[in-house]
Amino acid sequence: MARIIVTAPQLMSVVNEELAGHEVVGGDHLMDRQELSNQVVTADAMLTSLSDPLDAEMIGKGKNLKVIGQCAAGFNNIDLDAARRAGIVVTSTPGILHETTADLAFTLLLEVTRRTGEAERWVRAGKAWHYDHTFMLGAGLQGATLGIIGLGQIGEAMARRGAAFGMNVIYNARHEKDVAAIDAVNPNTQPTRRVELDDLFANSDVVSLHCPLTDETRHLVDADALAAMKKTAYLVNTARGACVDEAALVEALKAGAIAGAGLDVFEDEPTISADLLTMENVVLLPHIGSAALPTRAAMSRLAARNIAKVLDGKPAETPVE
Ligand code: GLV
Ligand code: GLV
Repeated sequence: MARIIVTAPQLMSVVNEELAGHEVVGGDHLMDRQELSNQVVTADAMLTSLSDPLDAEMIGKGKNLKVIGQCAAGFNNIDLDAARRAGIVVTSTPGILHETTADLAFTLLLEVTRRTGEAERWVRAGKAWHYDHTFMLGAGLQGATLGIIGLGQIGEAMARRGAAFGMNVIYNARHEKDVAAIDAVNPNTQPTRRVELDDLFANSDVVSLHCPLTDETRHLVDADALAAMKKTAYLVNTARGACVDEAALVEALKAGAIAGAGLDVFEDEPTISADLLTMENVVLLPHIGSAALPTRAAMSRLAARNIAKVLDGKPAETPVE
């Protein structure tokens, strides 16, 4: 019987089903660093969350550790080299959350461009309104350009949504991608094109981030990138907060260098730059990109199943390569 540490709140009925026969510890609270380092010492496996600090020191304490089943698409919190050196398999949950996360990214896009957060606050505050042709005007999407950074599964799902709403898609990625599914969505949009980053920043009406956080993408949206964007453009981030220089974003918003931002992730999560909280043209969400019940259940199941397989001596279903 293996000992499996569940480091954060989890859909435990699903997890327990997949890990029946093993000793499963936790799953009802977020373990802090101290608790994690106590638990990892005796763990055969960990079912982890994207906020767990799985650095080389932490991983080094897991002398029995065979598998880290990360319950997320991203895994920038895990020192993959340290895990590899220790012979620990790391798995994630790709392939099941991209449509749901793109739904949320597109929600943010609609919210910022149509000012729904601001408008809803207006109504809730009891401010005067009557139907007014000139009131709360936002940006239109037909013929607007959606610039996607990182055309993986989530970026592609976001691109299809943009096309469905009449947006022309440009993207930046390391490699040319198959865009047939995007171009098939709407006969009235222009063919999807891969462009250089500076071209993307300069020409997009909405820039949406869908890249992993790596050394290359940290602060990819910095002061220069924001200055290169159109004054009328919006930034949407559902990827990782640190892909954006949040201080530079605050300055750009204050200066009116861009029109607004929709953010589900923050550089120093869950701490948010205080200035953002006061800005009407910013929509702020608490990292809920994949938070639809069926999606989260499928993620829990896949993370747990990966662990069960590795403990059983079988290959993981979705290892991090
Ligand atoms: C969420 O941010 C994830 O990586 O799944
Ligand atoms: C991003 O998705 C890339 O493949 O570069």
